[in-house]
This record gives sequence, C-alpha cells and structure tokens, in this order.
Amino acid sequence: MKKIEDAIILKNVSIVDNIFDMKIKAPAVAENASAGQFIEIYTGNGVNILPRPISICEIDKKEGNLRLVYQVVGKGTGIFSQKKEGSILRIIGPLGNGYNIKNADKSIFVGGGIGVPPLLETVKNVKGQKVVVLGFKNGTILKDDFEKAGAKVLIATDDGSVGFKGNVIELMKAENVTGDVIYSCGPKIMLKFLSKYAEEKGIECFVSMEERMACGIGACVGCAVKIKNGDSYINKKVCKDGPVFNSEEVLWND
Ligand SMILES: Cc1cc2nc3c(=O)[nH]c(=O)nc-3n(C[C@H](O)[C@H](O)[C@H](O)COP(=O)(O)OP(=O)(O)OC[C@H]3O[C@@H](n4cnc5c(N)ncnc54)[C@H](O)[C@@H]3O)c2cc1C
Ligand code: FES
Repeated sequence: MKKIEDAIILKNVSIVDNIFDMKIKAPAVAENASAGQFIEIYTGNGVNILPRPISICEIDKKEGNLRLVYQVVGKGTGIFSQKKEGSILRIIGPLGNGYNIKNADKSIFVGGGIGVPPLLETVKNVKGQKVVVLGFKNGTILKDDFEKAGAKVLIATDDGSVGFKGNVIELMKAENVTGDVIYSCGPKIMLKFLSKYAEEKGIECFVSMEERMACGIGACVGCAVKIKNGDSYINKKVCKDGPVFNSEEVLWND
C-alpha cells in the first residue's frame, strides 16, 4: 500500500560523473516495498510541482531505509543532487507492480544505463545461479554490488572502455547467455531487442518500462504503453499496471 512520507536523507553522494547514490530513511514506504517498484520524489520547490519517479535500488526493511541511484538530467534530479544529509525529501511509494520473482535454477538480469539500479534488489531476492549483463555508453556502476550479491557480471560499453565493445544484446549473443528467466530494465530499444533474443532462446522475459510520467499514480494517461490484445492493442499505464510487463505482452513495433 502506497504512502506519502517525509524521508530523511542519510547519504547523497556522487559516485561517477552526474550519477548519485542516495540513502533515505523512509520506514513506512520501505515496509511495503519490493524489488522493481519505484517511488515518486517531490522537488519541494513550488515550481516543478510534479514528482519524479526513481526506482528502488535496495531495500533495508529492518532499518527502514531505501537506496536510490539516480542520474542528474534536469531540474528535478538537479534539485535532489543538491540535498544534504539530514534534509527532508517528500516521497510517495512504493509504486508499481515490481518483478514477480520466479523460482528458477538460472536467472539472467539485463540492465541498460540508469535502468540498472532496480535490478540490484531483484538479484538479492533471487535464488539459484545469477548472471547480470549490464550495458553503458562508457564506464559502469554497481558492478561490485552485483558481485557481492552473488552474481556473475558481464559488461558491455559502446566505447569499449569497460568489458565488451558493443551493446548488451551483442554481448549476450557472443557469450550465448541462456537461462530460465530474464529480468530487465533499460531503454525501450534495448528491451525490444532483448524481447526478440528471449523469444528466440525460449526464455521467459520481464521488462521494466521507463516511460515519462506525470501523476505517477494512474490518474492521467501520461505513461501509456501498448499491450497486445488479439489483433489489436490496449493502452496500459506504466505507473500503475507496470512498470514490469511480460515482454510477450508488449507491442514493440510502434
Ligand atoms: C518507473 C521509472 C523509474 C525510474 N527510475 C530511475 C532511476 O532509478 N534512476 C534515474 O536516474 N532515473 C530514473 N527514472 C528516470 C527519471 O524519472 C527521470 O530522469 C527524471 O524524472 C527526470 O526529471 P528531471 O526533472 O531531472 O528532468 P526533466 O527536466 O523533466 O527532463 C530532463 C531530460 O530527461 C528526460 N527524461 C525525463 N523523464 C524521463 C524518463 N522517464 N525516461 C527517460 N528520460 C526522461 C527528458 O526527456 C529530458 O530530456 C525512472 C523513470 C521511471 C518512469
Ligand atoms: S503517470 Fe499518470 S497515469 Fe501514469
């Protein structure tokens, strides 16, 4: 059940370039949160009124803390990056459906860019063998965290600065990555080609979509995604019905 809470910032530091690692104390939201869900953060400046959606990267239910990893891209995330330890952040959450964790022998996790953070809590909740495939323009984030969570980590970068030179799908093909289930989050184009890869290999695949959002709670149609419905499609809301969908449900060719 979602709640509005005034969270206390415990940590908010830059980990690389314009990417920040934030820890907040938000026991009411943390209590009900699960892997793949997100929160909305209010900017609190009275001008940029709409809250910004940020995925939950890690959940510490015992301490009532959440970890968020976010990239500064505009006004809202710029405001968050200026917040100091001890200051208050109004949030609403947990939001969205999150990943339906499967009981599988081998799970694959595929993340692209700033879509990587929600996979960390997911990896921590999955049993069995885990392979994490991450793609970035350059550099990498959270590699050590995934390894600590017991996963084998493969990295692809566009410029070849870390790991394989190319994209995640090319890397998966080169390494013949297979398993029982895929959990993924990242740019729509990556998810589209991942969906095709999963279909060819016969792997069940879950995609977390990051559409632009307005209300974030299902009250507008700001985040519609096309879901197959016979020969046609219906619109579903990423914020309420998602962000996670089975890749077979999504109409990719729009
Ligand atoms: C379910 C969900 C989970 C997300 N989780 C994370 C996360 O864990 N970490 C993180 O850094 N970001 C995440 N995002 C993206 C984040 O919400 C946006 O980057 C943020 O809202 C931008 O706000 P802003 O005011 O800083 O930028 P704005 O001034 O609103 O926009 C600046 C630029 O960012 C682009 N942008 C804005 N929203 C999005 C979006 N949803 N997707 C892609 N581009 C966008 C705009 O097109 C524009 O070019 C998530 C988005 C969704 C929908
Ligand atoms: S953002 Fe308003 S319905 Fe999803």
